[in-house]
Amino acid sequence: MNSPLTKSKFLDINVIRQEFPILNREVKGRPLIYLDNAATTQKPQQVLDALTHYYTNYNANIHRGIHTLAEEATAAFEHTRDAVKSFIGAGSREEIIFTRGTTEGINLVAYSWGRKNIQANDEIIISNMEHHSNIVPWQLLCEEKGAILKVIPINENGELVLDEYNKMLGPKTKLVSIVHVSNALGTVNPVKQMIADAHAVGALFMVDGAQSAVHLDINVTDLDCDFFAFSAHKLYGPTGVGVLYGKKALLEVMPPFQAGGEMIKEVTMQKTTFNDLPYKFEAGTPNIADVIAFKSAIHFVQSIGKEKIRRHERDLMDYGQQELEKIPGLRIIGKAKEKVSVISFVIENAHPQDIGILLDNRGIAVRTGHHCAQPLMDHFCIPGTARVSFAIYNTRYEIDELVKGLLRVVKILS
Ligand code: ALA
Repeated sequence: MNSPLTKSKFLDINVIRQEFPILNREVKGRPLIYLDNAATTQKPQQVLDALTHYYTNYNANIHRGIHTLAEEATAAFEHTRDAVKSFIGAGSREEIIFTRGTTEGINLVAYSWGRKNIQANDEIIISNMEHHSNIVPWQLLCEEKGAILKVIPINENGELVLDEYNKMLGPKTKLVSIVHVSNALGTVNPVKQMIADAHAVGALFMVDGAQSAVHLDINVTDLDCDFFAFSAHKLYGPTGVGVLYGKKALLEVMPPFQAGGEMIKEVTMQKTTFNDLPYKFEAGTPNIADVIAFKSAIHFVQSIGKEKIRRHERDLMDYGQQELEKIPGLRIIGKAKEKVSVISFVIENAHPQDIGILLDNRGIAVRTGHHCAQPLMDHFCIPGTARVSFAIYNTRYEIDELVKGLLRVVKILS
């Protein structure tokens, strides 16, 4: 059963909701209200169909068979690469590497580019609002190489202190790796200017696009970033698939990250020569089905248009912030001027986990905890937050239900 809807000013959300079968289910006897989209989005029918269609009709390994099924599977897999290339405005399909997700993309750069290029006393810059996956790979690299990790501080609104960033940049800076949109706060960072600043001192720039690729228009050529990583599952696509974009000139001289089948040209017992891009970085049988279905997710987003998606989600976020602020004892964490699709909050005398459990009893899914951003929580002197995060299928009605649930939380816990 679909929740009753408040009509969106921008889109017929009811029609969109019908494409998501999971939204018909009930949780604890109530219609599901899914507000944990920054963790993962739900999947439209066309993505589910693409998976079933592949396994039902042309399941085969790719790039290595001459039979019909292998050719069909290879073509479908490579079509997704083309779709991704145009989705993010890359210059060439060789710059699109399929990974397991954003985390693997960042690790690939840290291991392959990092181990080759970072030396003792070199500096890598990240920020205090990074996800652990954009902290720990650089910590490991710095420990191994004797390099220095510098951290851009944030202000009380949850925005980067850019003056400090500009002071940190210098001849020793080799790489800057920054989240485009904070998963815990929703802050949108001004990466385009930051990239230009990094390039001015000769440093490379990696963008963690896990949370931005679904909301913002991404054009890696215009941004001029050196690396951009994101995941399909936060973009209405399947889990287990991600993309690492890298500038071709950089990828060409980077050593392989993993070794095995597919990434080689020729192997003898004495020496191996490596395959061309992008296959040099795609060792082993990839996640064929999910890569193929990812194309359907991209088409889903493109068929609505990011501008419309953004306007709808902006409306939800503004309405949500306005209504949540009326709740006694509730404090929103992260009030950046540029923000997208996330509201993180704490309630006086209520542990975030208890908030999550009580909301789940009403069929409302939110995420609670440190959101894999412990240094950020430390900055705000809190153990964690409750976080609601919006997608195209959410409605104002669902926010009203959330508010009712939170008023109940306040009554029980405060
Ligand atoms: N990084 C994901 C989140 O923020 C899992 O929930």
